[in-house]
Amino acid sequence: MLSALSNVKSLQTETILSVWLILPAIAIFYYWKWSRSRTVRLLNAIPGPKALPVLGNLLDLNVYNEDFYKDMGIDWVKMYGPIYRIWLGPRPIVILASAELVQKLLSSSKYCTQSSDYSHLSSWLGNSMFMTTGTHWKNRRRIVRPGFHTQNFDSFIDIFNEKSSMCAEEFERIVEAKPDTAIDVTHLMTKCALNIICETAMGQTKQETEKEVYLNNMERFCQIFTERVHRPWLSNDWIYKMSSLRRECDRCVNALHAFTNKVARDRREMLERCTNNYSDHFPNSVIEDEKPHLTSRFAIVDRLIEASSRQMKGYDTTSVAMAWFLYLIAKHPENQQLIVDELDSVFSGNRERPCTIQDVPELKYMECCIKETLRLYPSVPSLMRKLIQDVELDGYTIPAGVTIIPIFYAIHHNPCIYPDPEAFKPERFFPENSNGRHPFAFIPFSAGPRNCLGQKYAMMELKVVFANLLRRVQFSVSDPAMSDAAEIGMTLKPKYGVRLIVSKRLNKV
Ligand code: HEM
Repeated sequence: MLSALSNVKSLQTETILSVWLILPAIAIFYYWKWSRSRTVRLLNAIPGPKALPVLGNLLDLNVYNEDFYKDMGIDWVKMYGPIYRIWLGPRPIVILASAELVQKLLSSSKYCTQSSDYSHLSSWLGNSMFMTTGTHWKNRRRIVRPGFHTQNFDSFIDIFNEKSSMCAEEFERIVEAKPDTAIDVTHLMTKCALNIICETAMGQTKQETEKEVYLNNMERFCQIFTERVHRPWLSNDWIYKMSSLRRECDRCVNALHAFTNKVARDRREMLERCTNNYSDHFPNSVIEDEKPHLTSRFAIVDRLIEASSRQMKGYDTTSVAMAWFLYLIAKHPENQQLIVDELDSVFSGNRERPCTIQDVPELKYMECCIKETLRLYPSVPSLMRKLIQDVELDGYTIPAGVTIIPIFYAIHHNPCIYPDPEAFKPERFFPENSNGRHPFAFIPFSAGPRNCLGQKYAMMELKVVFANLLRRVQFSVSDPAMSDAAEIGMTLKPKYGVRLIVSKRLNKV
C-alpha cells in the first residue's frame, strides 16, 4: 500500500517536472521559429537599436522621459537614418523620419489604415470619423467637409473674437491683481480654445464647471490611451480589463458621454425653440424664406459636432499651439515686437476693434510665427498607421500588418531642411525662403487624403486669438532657461506648463 502511494507520488512529480520542461521547450521552439520568420527577417534588416530577446527595446523607451521625442526624432535618426525599427516586446514598429518616405506612405490610402492602437479610443470615439476606415471613413469625410468651407467662417469669427477678448480681459485682471508674477498660461489658453470649440461646434455656452470636468476627464482618458500603447501587456484586452486603469477609463468615458449627450439634447431643444420663435413672430412666407438659412446654420453645427466634439483634436491641438506660441514669443521679444508692429499697422493702432475676415490674411508675419511654432512643437508630433500591404521604402520591404509611425517632429527638426533647426526663425516661412521646400517638409496638419479638415479653421482661430491678446497684453519670461520638455501623449503638451510674466501693453507715444 505504502509503495503504491509512493509510486503515485513519484509519477506526479515526474509529470509536473516534464510539464515544466516541455512548456519552456515549446516556448523556445516557437520563439526560435518566429525569430526566423519572414516578417522578423525583413524587419531586422532595417537598422535600429539593439533589441533584447522578448523585451525588445522596451527598456530604451521610457515614456516618462522628457526627451522622448528628441531621442526618437533627432538622436536615433542621426544614429540609424530616416527609417529605423524598434521592438515593443515582440511587436515591431517602423519609424519614418523623412519627408520623402512619409510622402510615399501618406499620399494614398492604398498602403495603410488607422493603427489598431486607436481601437483603445473606441469606448469614447465610437465610430466617429477619426476611428473609421475605408468607405465608411470616405462617406463621413464627404459629409463633414462642407462644414469647414471658408464661406462658413463668417459665422465663427465673432465667436473667436468674443472668447479671445474674454481671455484678454482675464489676463488683464491677473496683471492687476498680481503684477510681475509669472503665471502658467496653458490653463487660460486651454479654457479659451475649449470655449471656442464649445460654441462653434456645440453651438452654445456651457457652464465653466462642466467644461472643467470635461477637460479633466479628457486629459486622463488620453493619458490612459498613451499608457496602453507604450506598455504592450496593457494592449491585451484581457489583462487591461482586470486592471484598475480599465475602471478609471470607464468612469472618464461615462462622464464624457454624459457631456456630449447633454450638448446634443440642448442643441435639439435650441433648434426647436428657434423654429417656434420664428413661427410666433413672422408670417409663413418669411419662415419659408429663412428655413434654409437656419437649417444650414444647424447643419454646419452638426457637422462640426461630428468632426470635433467627439474627437479631442479640435481644442487640444489648438490650445497646445497657443501655449507654445506664447512661450516662443515671450522668449523672443524682438519677434513679439514685429507681430505687434504688424497688428498696429493692420488695425491702425486700434486695440479694441474686433478682427475681421479681411484682417486675417493681412497678418502675414504672425502667420510665419505660428508656422514656426508648429514646426518646432507640432501639436500632433506623430501618427500611427498599420500597413495593409507590403511596402518598399528606402530599399527595405516592410511587411503588411506592421505598425508605422511617421514622426512629424523629426522631419520638422531635420537640419538639411531647416538649418539650425532648434532656433526660432519665423523668416523660414517667408515665401521667398519656402520656395522649393519639399511638400512634406512641413506637415503639422498631416497631409494626403486623411489630412486635418480643421486646418484653415485652426489657423484663423489662432490668428484672431493672438490679434486680440497681443494688442492688449505682452508676454515675457522670468527664467530664460525655462524648460521646453514635452509630455508624451496624443498631443505635444508642455510638461511643466508655460510660466510667463504678463503685463499690460502700453500704447505707443
Ligand atoms: C493647430 C491645430 C490643429 C492641428 C495641428 C491638427 C492636426 C491634425 C492632424 C495631424 C490630423 C491627422 C490625424 C491622423 O490622421 O491620425 C488631424 C485630423 C483631423 N483634424 Fe485636426 N488639427 C488641428 C485643429 C483642428 C480643429 C480645430 C478641428 C475641428 C474643428 C480639426 C479637425 C480634424 C478632423 C475632423 C480630422 C480627421 C480627418 C480624417 O480623419 O479624415 N483639427 N488634425
